[in-house]
Amino acid sequence: MTSTYDFGMIGLGVMGRNFLLNVADHGFSAAGLDLDAEKANALDEESAGKPVKGTTNTAEFVAMLKRPRKIMLLVPAGKAVDSVIESLIPHLDKGDLIIDGGNSHFEDTNRRQEYLKMKELQFLGVGVSGGSEGARRGPSIMPGGNVESYQLVGPILEAVSAKVDGVPCVAHLGNTSAGHYVKMVHNGIEYGLMQLIAEAYDVLRTVGGLNNEELHQVFHNWNQGALGSFLIEITADIFTKRDEEADGWLVDKILDKAKQKGTGKWTSQNAMDLGIAIPTIDAAVAMRGISSLKMERKQAEPHYTRAVENTPEVDKGQVVSQVGEALHFAFIITYAQGMRLLAEASEEYGYGLEMETVARIWRGGCIIRARLLEDMRRAYQEQPALRNLLLAPAFHESLLHGQHAARAVLKTAIDFGLPTLALSSALAYFDASRNPRLPLNLVQAQRDYFGSHTYERVDKEGVFHTEW
Ligand code: 6PG
Repeated sequence: MTSTYDFGMIGLGVMGRNFLLNVADHGFSAAGLDLDAEKANALDEESAGKPVKGTTNTAEFVAMLKRPRKIMLLVPAGKAVDSVIESLIPHLDKGDLIIDGGNSHFEDTNRRQEYLKMKELQFLGVGVSGGSEGARRGPSIMPGGNVESYQLVGPILEAVSAKVDGVPCVAHLGNTSAGHYVKMVHNGIEYGLMQLIAEAYDVLRTVGGLNNEELHQVFHNWNQGALGSFLIEITADIFTKRDEEADGWLVDKILDKAKQKGTGKWTSQNAMDLGIAIPTIDAAVAMRGISSLKMERKQAEPHYTRAVENTPEVDKGQVVSQVGEALHFAFIITYAQGMRLLAEASEEYGYGLEMETVARIWRGGCIIRARLLEDMRRAYQEQPALRNLLLAPAFHESLLHGQHAARAVLKTAIDFGLPTLALSSALAYFDASRNPRLPLNLVQAQRDYFGSHTYERVDKEGVFHTEW
């Protein structure tokens, strides 16, 4: 077996296969390994005529690759990553590069990097976003680790990534686990945007009385404007899908219990650790939790059917336009929360993130790609040290304007008894973030009262305690 292949992939599920086919489309030869012979064969079938080869044998796979070997893992996050790494190590040589392309927890990435350094192997933690279609046609790629390791594989990642105005949606983001951290926050934002869209849908169908055809049209129109984004686009599409098993629309047949693999929860957990508020992302995680308690929700329903009475008359056209503006407002707030967390994490963990770069590589390929990201990129370009997007002049007008719609939509949703946790958290975050005098002086007084925890004063320096 001659060592001629440029790039290797372990894990030939649809993501891994598609990524390899994409690599081959860009003139690189690629080898794939999967212990499941069906998947290795599927790669060979799909790649007929391309310089791609699948195998089920680790030794053979490693021997096919040019040195230093560049091997990407697209296997489920967690134990599988460690066991694949262990199975590879005996076959590798000093300087070979392992790239973890899954949604690994950033602390696992730090641990693996240290471990592989001891073995004189290189390691990159790389977030890949865009689903199976993105992997095939161009994902957004978020690499972290040593820049020298990145340079080994940079030309391949740049070739396969999505492009916006010819600019690749990939860049070396920073040290150690920077890539997986950025991908985790990407997913947190993804959760937030998805929940906001779900709440908008609820208001439109329940308050506005829109049917699925009208919902399709509304989301389709929104996608042409300031809300233009992948998630709005696919939402428009979802409303056109008929149920193939029975009459009606598929979306109406899908059980309202949202699953999760953990990346949104990790974002909330780590934001808590760093003391950074991301309430819209927290709300999205919470709503997935409440959604999963279907039985309890059903049990509670008969007791509280009279919770909502005398719902007001509404103007359908006005509801649609207010919901669109409220969604735009809340989208900006959600990205702002995620970006604020990234800025903090970059300092805390020494990642050296450039926020403009993050916004730039999220403009295409990934699940949260949106027109808004170009405005954010420009805001960071103008002020590289900007920590809070709410302070960027480019967003002042949109937020000032959008808040009115958010307030109006929330009032109506409350009257109708619709849960709008994400939208209300976005508005409360905005109201809190622009308020120089929050009522938390009272919390400080209480802490001092019961626990002598002390407080600071508005009129002089120092730390004070009172015998209340
Ligand atoms: C992406 C997605 C991808 C995956 C999510 C789903 O960027 O391509 O984020 O990573 O679809 O992890 O997450 P949940 O299963 O937790 O909703």
